Amino acid sequence: MSNVVVIDHPLVQHKLTLMRRRDTPTSRFRQLLREISLLLAYEVTRDLPVRMTPISTPLEDMESPVLEGKKLVLISILRAGNGLLEGILDLVPSARVGHVGLYRDPETMEAIEYYFKVPEDLSSRQVIVVDPMLATANSAIAAVQRIKAAGAVNLKFVCLLAAPEGIAAFTKAHPDVLVYTAAVDRCLNEHSYILPGLGDAGDRIYGTT
Ligand code: PRP
Ligand code: URA
Repeated sequence: MSNVVVIDHPLVQHKLTLMRRRDTPTSRFRQLLREISLLLAYEVTRDLPVRMTPISTPLEDMESPVLEGKKLVLISILRAGNGLLEGILDLVPSARVGHVGLYRDPETMEAIEYYFKVPEDLSSRQVIVVDPMLATANSAIAAVQRIKAAGAVNLKFVCLLAAPEGIAAFTKAHPDVLVYTAAVDRCLNEHSYILPGLGDAGDRIYGTT
């Protein structure tokens, strides 16, 4: 799993446990996802380049680091991706944002695209694709294919939970894209839900069934 970074920070793990619980209500689930996404974003942006710039503190002049290069692009896979997106935007408010609308066909598990809108000049920017769940990885593979076709070359994928099957499929399809996740669960069930998982992320975020 050399292409996978598991973010096993105790705060992330604690919040994830609360999110997994069946009786955690929608409002609390959303709040926890927002909090966790800040912590994930902190890890995912760890290697952003910086440059030194001259500033003056109240006491003296100094050279101090600031982020270097073009603004980050965050791309949310709708609809559950928006739960992660909002928290990451709190941390990186100047990021550009794109959306890829995909849903899983309940019979075939194929990813069906219904929306695609991303910023221009992706080729010169770090692109972070977000979706809480990597199950079969059909959605993530299709989304990243479309985003690459739109010009992106420097990509990362961030989720909350991944299945081993999804990781294998995703890293085979996109070996150049690093995957960040808070946990790798046991397996998929017969409906391609992650076990033990947290259920349907979109439904839990938005209170649908
Ligand atoms: C969920 C999830 C991922 C996808 C993961 O979305 O948010 O996008 O399933 O499954 P996969 O790895 O097998 O493709 P869903 O299709 O339920 O749509 P939603 O976000 O609109 O609820
Ligand atoms: N999508 C979800 O929301 N949950 C799963 O367990 C699998 C796919």
